[in-house]
Formats: sequence, structure tokens, C-alpha cells
Amino acid sequence: MTDTDTRSAMIETCLKMTAAGINQGTAGNVSVRTESGLLITPSSMPYDQMCPEDIVEMSLDGQWSGNRRPSSEWRFHRDILAARKDVSVVLHCHSVHATALACLHRSIPSYHYMVGVAGGTDIRCAPYATFGTQALSDAAITALVDRKACLLGQHGQISLGKNLDAALWMAIEVETLADMYLRALSVGEPPILPDDEMARVLDQMQRMDYGLAPNDEPAPVGAD
Ligand code: 13P
Repeated sequence: MTDTDTRSAMIETCLKMTAAGINQGTAGNVSVRTESGLLITPSSMPYDQMCPEDIVEMSLDGQWSGNRRPSSEWRFHRDILAARKDVSVVLHCHSVHATALACLHRSIPSYHYMVGVAGGTDIRCAPYATFGTQALSDAAITALVDRKACLLGQHGQISLGKNLDAALWMAIEVETLADMYLRALSVGEPPILPDDEMARVLDQMQRMDYGLAPNDEPAPVGAD
């Protein structure tokens, strides 16, 4: 992919977030790993007005170049890409149900086996910190240990992927899981699948490439 293709694909992903109903207005942001750092969406710009030249190029030391200021959340994008060699895309949005849970500071537990697609027995909620700060980035990094998604207290969600489609897919999964969890909670506390069952689920998912996002790389074919 050329640099321009990547920038266009990032804008397309942002438009897909809006079309999928997981974001609104100028909320949310997307970054993609490059050889020298990252490409990131600009701050406070409507996605339907964004051109490839508006995407901002950044180095890992926080220097940037371009026509526009990088997303106010460039710190957590930069820090996640630096810490997580297993992912190349960071996507942040304020999807309604995930954010409603985050406003209650509730992680998503293993009330449903699909929680395992984020990599473990829960999707953690990071404590609140002011947007755009190093404190928020530090909280996100901790909540994302061994996970491909987390909630951000009183803020939104972060989803990670090896590519743009995978990160978008994860964000939609997180939103769907949050929606189902809230509906279950409206009737009562749903039972939680125990850790030994989630261990079977996670093992099964890995062996079957189950819950793999479109265009994600499957693991090498194993015994099953
Ligand atoms: P930016 O427009 O600066 O990317 O901020 C949007 C947002 O969601 C902040 O968390």
C-alpha cells in the first residue's frame, strides 16, 4: 500500500465507523503504524471533510508534520503502537453502549463467550483520566495488557488490530457485547462463565481461528 492509499483507507475506516453507528461527529480517531512512526487522523475534523493530506505523520517521539494538528489522543496511539508489536492499528471511538458501561466504570466480564475475542476473560475498563493526557495513555496501556480492546472510564473504547478492517471489526464486537451486557443487566446480573470454561473458549478460538476479523492473518494451520 502506498502512503496515499493508507491515508485514504484510514478515512474510509472513519466513515465506516460512522456508518456502523459506533461513532458520531468528530469523536474518535484512528492511527496506523508506519516504518518511521505512525499516521494519525487530525484533531476535531469531520470525517466526511477529511482528505488524505489531512492525515498527520508522526514519529514515536511525538514530532509531527502536516497541514493539521494530530488527534488530541496521539499519546495513547503512539504509546500503544510502541508497546504492542502485535498490532498495527489503534482505533478509538465513543460507541454508545461501550461508553455507557465505561460511564459506570464497569468492565465487560465473561457473561458471554465472545468476550474472548478481545483476548481474555474480560474487556477491562481503564480508570478515568483527562482526554489527551499521558495519564489516559498509561491507564489504557495497563487495561490493554493481553487484550485487543478496552473501555476508557467516562470516555469510550479502544480497539486494536493488525489492520484497519480488524480494528474496526473489534470495535463493532465490543459495542455489540456492551449492548447485550447492558440489556442483560436491565433484567438482572447475568451469570459469568467460569475461568476454566473461558480457558476452553480461548483455546478453541485460537485453534479454529474463530472470531477472526476480515483480512486478519490466520494462525498457521494446526492439528485441528
Ligand atoms: P480528536 O478530534 O482530537 O481526535 O479527539 C476526539 C476524541 O475522541 C478525543 O478522545
